[in-house]
Amino acid sequence: MISRTLVLIKPDGVKRALSGEIIRRFERVGLKIIGMKMVWVDREFSKQHYSAHVGKQFYNNLEKYLTMGPVIAMVLEGINAVELARKIVGGTEPNKSAPGTIRGDYAHHTFSYTDKKGKSTMNLIHASGNEEEAKQEIALWFAPEELHDYKRSDDDFVI
Ligand code: RTP
Ligand code: MG
Repeated sequence: MISRTLVLIKPDGVKRALSGEIIRRFERVGLKIIGMKMVWVDREFSKQHYSAHVGKQFYNNLEKYLTMGPVIAMVLEGINAVELARKIVGGTEPNKSAPGTIRGDYAHHTFSYTDKKGKSTMNLIHASGNEEEAKQEIALWFAPEELHDYKRSDDDFVI
């Protein structure tokens, strides 16, 4: 039941100085940060991370988006962490993401607007979509020694 998920604060989140606000939302629900680093992704690595989307109509703009500045990558651990992180992040298209979610509160792009503008839908966060994706993505982004096992002061109450 305790699982791990990969979350990225995408370049728009870092450049808009929302990193602290975003991290706070994951921490306060009880998700434990067990790995974290800043990485400036290149085009090759983008293709590895978003391999499922390479060749799709939106991929080129997505690659430009992911490589436009550094991202903050983190591995979060908790009860059903993958599903929980997706709930906190909200739906993919920010204009439709529920209020109270990161995407719903800090962005409002629509797919049709960004398609017309020739740019990517900027939605601040990547979070693994399912357990299998999470395992692959954590292995892609982090070496085993970059992940840490420690006790949080509130572990007895949230886990
Ligand atoms: P992510 O992988 O980044 O967590 O996003 P997601 O699961 O909510 O959505 P996904 O379908 O995996 O799409 C990956 C990212 O591609 C951009 N996108 N643009 N214009 C479009 O139709 C379109 N569709 C997807 C978004 O940045 C999305 O997060
Ligand atoms: Mg996805």
